[in-house]
Amino acid sequence: MNVSLSDVIKTRRSVRAYLDKPVEDKLIEEIVEAARLAPSACNSQPWRFVVVTDKDIKNRITEKVLNGIFLPNTWAKTAPVIIAVCAELSFVPHTAASNLKRTKLHLLDIGIAIEQLVLKATELGLGTCIIGWFNGKTLRKLLNIPNSIQTIALITLGYPEEPLTVNQKEKLPLEKILFWNKYK
Ligand SMILES: Cc1cc2nc3c(=O)[nH]c(=O)nc-3n(C[C@H](O)[C@H](O)[C@H](O)COP(=O)(O)O)c2cc1C
Repeated sequence: MNVSLSDVIKTRRSVRAYLDKPVEDKLIEEIVEAARLAPSACNSQPWRFVVVTDKDIKNRITEKVLNGIFLPNTWAKTAPVIIAVCAELSFVPHTAASNLKRTKLHLLDIGIAIEQLVLKATELGLGTCIIGWFNGKTLRKLLNIPNSIQTIALITLGYPEEPLTVNQKEKLPLEKILFWNKYK
């Protein structure tokens, strides 16, 4: 398949319904490989990925980690793959930036890696949804995540129930977000 980057960017959308069809390990590796190549502050590469395909663990995630009063993410149960995107918190550039500038560089690094991951998945015809609302404590226990590591987001991955077409979600027009030379 030869799709342009522009087409991939336009087609990526949050997919919340998936076919009951496993995703090949080789494709998952290709997708995580795209994230691996992302830039990061001082090349610290704080990302770690826990790919969950085991049905039992996945069910426990949807029941206990994504289910709750402020957690309207039970739709994730249809996804054949859930990826926990974790950050190693001990890197000096991140700690320094956080202390000196109150900038959370590790979140920037992880965000870039996530976008590379979801764009690669889109290129391969797979659907994704980034999930920021989840119970991190329960997830930590379930996936055996050490205390020095924080899960920043979960990503659902799978073959979309509806084919991927151009994202129709309303986005702010360029004139509202692009300023030349000075903020207006
Ligand atoms: C950091 C972040 C957290 C998100 N958390 C959730 C979530 O918890 N549940 C959900 O259904 N979608 C979540 N989303 C998906 C957004 O709702 C979605 O990206 C947004 O509505 C724009 O739609 P689009 O992705 O189709 O362009 C999240 C997206 C981002 C980037």
